[in-house]
Amino acid sequence: MSTLVWISGASAGIGAALAAAVPFVGPRVVDISRSGGTAEHLRADLANPADWGRVARHFGDELAAYDGERVVFVHNAGTITPIGPAAGVDPDAYERAVLLNSAAPQVLGAAFLRASAHLTCERHLIMLSSGAAKTAYAGWSSYNAGKAAVEHWVRTVGQEQPADGCRIIAVAPGVVDTAMQSEIRATSESDFPSVGRFHELERTGALSTPESAAAGIWSLLSRDLPNGSCVDLRNL
Ligand SMILES: NC(=O)c1ccc[n+]([C@@H]2O[C@H](COP(=O)([O-])OP(=O)(O)OC[C@H]3O[C@@H](n4cnc5c(N)ncnc54)[C@H](OP(=O)(O)O)[C@@H]3O)[C@@H](O)[C@H]2O)c1
Repeated sequence: MSTLVWISGASAGIGAALAAAVPFVGPRVVDISRSGGTAEHLRADLANPADWGRVARHFGDELAAYDGERVVFVHNAGTITPIGPAAGVDPDAYERAVLLNSAAPQVLGAAFLRASAHLTCERHLIMLSSGAAKTAYAGWSSYNAGKAAVEHWVRTVGQEQPADGCRIIAVAPGVVDTAMQSEIRATSESDFPSVGRFHELERTGALSTPESAAAGIWSLLSRDLPNGSCVDLRNL
């Protein structure tokens, strides 16, 4: 087994498509999620900080004596819930969104870097971002802020890597036909004033598929991008 891949949120959507299309021969693929997909499952609720240590220990245990060709962590799990003005949404759901979208990427990303620092094989850390990292959509405050945090973390940690260190990239996948998009379209205009744009994208067939997003994301591993790049698949 010469490639070891962790994908958070591989039970559905883009993560499941990533797990199904790992572009290396005979990879071992571990899904980190609550419900589990077809890949080997490490059950974790990543909105719960109590579960982060178990994921960090898994990285450490698996990589301590790793002698394969490459290791990859794709941090893909994320949530758009709750949608609505910051002052109006459920505070518990808001807290979970902040933990999952802002804190978990940093904590788990750092854990992966620590666990893989001694390795000399190929190392990749890919973080799922969004156009919302740069556009402040009203109704998505914790999501927008979480993706902006992901991108700035990636820029910073990318700079910290030595020339032969871990390759770190944030990627916005475009508008992809998953459960997250269904949830966005089901929102009222009062909670999400831009909802009409997302109905229009669906009506005109402008959504991409999880499979094409996954192919675009995996293609980044063979591109010669500066470490810490934040890219949008729509601009490649
Ligand atoms: N779809 C789009 O148009 C779009 C656009 C821009 C960016 N993105 C980003 O792409 C990534 C994937 O989005 P998607 O559209 O594929 O979403 P999705 O279909 O809603 O799937 C979300 C995945 O994240 C996992 N997840 C959610 N909450 C979790 C938690 N608390 N702990 C562990 N895992 C959790 C889910 O697994 P469980 O439920 O089994 O835990 C699921 O596998 C996200 O980071 C999203 O922000 C998506």
